[in-house]
Amino acid sequence: MTATANREMRGDPDGLGALGARVVFDRIEKRYGAVVAVNDVSLDIAPGEFVTLLGPSGSGKTTTLMMLAGFEIPTAGEIYVDDDPIAAVPPYRRNIGMVFQNYALFPHMTVGENIAFPLQMRRMSRAEIASKTGEVLELVGLPGYEGRYPRQLSGGQQQRVAVARALVFNPRVLLMDEPLGALDKQLRERLQLEIKALHEQLGVTIIYVTHDQEEALIMSDRIAVMNEGLIEQFGQPTDLYDEPATRFVADFIGESNFIDGTLTQHDGATACVDVSGLGELHAPARPGYAAGTVVALTVRPEKIVAAENGSAPGMNAVAGVVEDVVFVGEMRRYVVRMPGGQRLVLKAQNRIGVQNFERGDPIRVCWNVADGRIV
Ligand SMILES: Nc1ncnc2c1ncn2[C@@H]1O[C@H](COP(=O)(O)OP(=O)(O)O)[C@@H](O)[C@H]1O
Ligand SMILES: [Mg+2]
Repeated sequence: MTATANREMRGDPDGLGALGARVVFDRIEKRYGAVVAVNDVSLDIAPGEFVTLLGPSGSGKTTTLMMLAGFEIPTAGEIYVDDDPIAAVPPYRRNIGMVFQNYALFPHMTVGENIAFPLQMRRMSRAEIASKTGEVLELVGLPGYEGRYPRQLSGGQQQRVAVARALVFNPRVLLMDEPLGALDKQLRERLQLEIKALHEQLGVTIIYVTHDQEEALIMSDRIAVMNEGLIEQFGQPTDLYDEPATRFVADFIGESNFIDGTLTQHDGATACVDVSGLGELHAPARPGYAAGTVVALTVRPEKIVAAENGSAPGMNAVAGVVEDVVFVGEMRRYVVRMPGGQRLVLKAQNRIGVQNFERGDPIRVCWNVADGRIV
């Protein structure tokens, strides 16, 4: 189906209107007795945006989605869809589609009956249901599959049907809670791209949940990193990777080194960190951190290179010993023990001109001061 046909199906033939809704969480809290599942969450999600809630198990992602869907009631705060508070709107009238990892299809119903279910709930005519079902199956790449039973489909096809069922009533918001979690890596990667393409085609606002940071980086316009019910940072994938606001974010997204030390001085542009047994390292200053604060200097492994003697301005240089080396095909991953005992991981591309080191070799490594962050 073409994008134009889709817009016609969705009542927006010119594609002028924003099809997705704006979603605002305003200081939302959810307690279960003494457990604070969601703690003062505020998010402003733009119409048509693809936002991912990313965090470890138990961080409050599902609870956050359930409150938007209407299956849980916030203890405090308000949620708005297109500027209307939704607290008083029952779930079935919120016009929100949902796909869950374990929200299986009804096994005794055909694909067509599964997809028709939300439309029957909305009392649509038989002819209209048949036509909508056919259109949405085409949209997810399963034209003509109406008569199949879920057991006759692969895992990936079943999730496509679940997506079709969630989209068939033209919701303005689509919630997806770990929808690819049960699929193998190759299929997961394919469906990630398919969901992204669907999003671009339809313009629906998607709020997606995953604990897989790579999946979040690939798919999202913006990512909210959750930890223990709190949002640690909300930003674009590149912001989170390059400018992690907290140690948790730096650790959870990509791989990071953390060198523990004490902030000794802050001259406005550059911060000095005194590292026990090693001396001073430098990083861009971070407002709000006073001298004497115990901090970590974080730097990504791919920013660190082995270098010859001599120190360049604007670089941190450390002499150490290779403690471990792992060959990973396109690169070698070194663990370097620094004076004072702390360790650094660096990744060296497997290509001409890059020197290889063995375990026990002395090594001198350096990185740009600008590539470090204080957390
Ligand atoms: N119905 C419930 N009763 C009590 N505690 C709950 C309930 N639902 C979730 N929790 C708790 O709230 C926290 C967040 O859970 P959840 O939102 O499911 O996290 P996630 O989806 O990120 O894994 C967890 O500590 C969980 O045990
Ligand atoms: Mg969950």
